[in-house]
Amino acid sequence: MKTIKHVAIIMDGNGRWGLKKRGSRHFGHLSGFRNLENIVDFSIKKKISYLTLFAFSTENWKRPESEIKYLFDLIRKYFKKKISSLMEKGARIKIIGNKNKLPKDVRKIISNVEKITKKNKKIQILLALNYGSKEEIVNSFKKLIKKKVKKVSVKQISNYLYTSRIPDPEILIRTGGYFRLSNFLLWQSAYSELFFLKKLWPDFKEKDFSKVIQKYYKIKRNFGSL
Ligand code: IPE
Ligand code: IPE
Ligand code: MG
Repeated sequence: MKTIKHVAIIMDGNGRWGLKKRGSRHFGHLSGFRNLENIVDFSIKKKISYLTLFAFSTENWKRPESEIKYLFDLIRKYFKKKISSLMEKGARIKIIGNKNKLPKDVRKIISNVEKITKKNKKIQILLALNYGSKEEIVNSFKKLIKKKVKKVSVKQISNYLYTSRIPDPEILIRTGGYFRLSNFLLWQSAYSELFFLKKLWPDFKEKDFSKVIQKYYKIKRNFGSL
């Protein structure tokens, strides 16, 4: 059986889900966060070592201020409420994305969570916050230039991404019905198996995750060879 080390998820469709259920995009975001626990537990059960979750993109600043504020409030509350359960599960949290532009208190909360969970070994959750793949790649080049690296290589560029030393995802899932990557893990997903699901994120359950994994097992991965 092929091992699955890394699964990345574009958790799309919260707004539409909330609008449909309660006429409120905010309610969709709340339900999206509530859906995380089961997905994390299932990932641990499946012995997945890295779970990357796209929570806020560098483009999401274009949204109304009230929605952005609600999202960051959810993030604040999530870590406050869930830190002990994350410790119990053995989950290590790492934020990927441009932390500089995040609200100051959120920066403090996440650096604290990263520190507290640092030694946890069951699963690493990479939460993509203010994450943009193009910015990440540009930053990597900037660092290489600063270090006066002469031989620019795939390895060197990878080394300076937020995901350095983390294997590329075997599986990339996007819920919400659109067939696009929206600036997520463009470099790292070069050879990922892509799964685009119609279901909106709050409706994505263990059963759906399990189906993706079953399909993944049936795929012949070539990496260019035969
Ligand atoms: C994804 O859900 C979560 C974030 C981008 C924060 P959306 O908010 O994009 O939900 P839809 O796509 O509008 O339904
Ligand atoms: C992608 O969803 C970002 C996250 C899930 C955090 P978006 O809803 O922002 O993507 P677009 O704008 O529809 O491409
Ligand atoms: Mg969306």
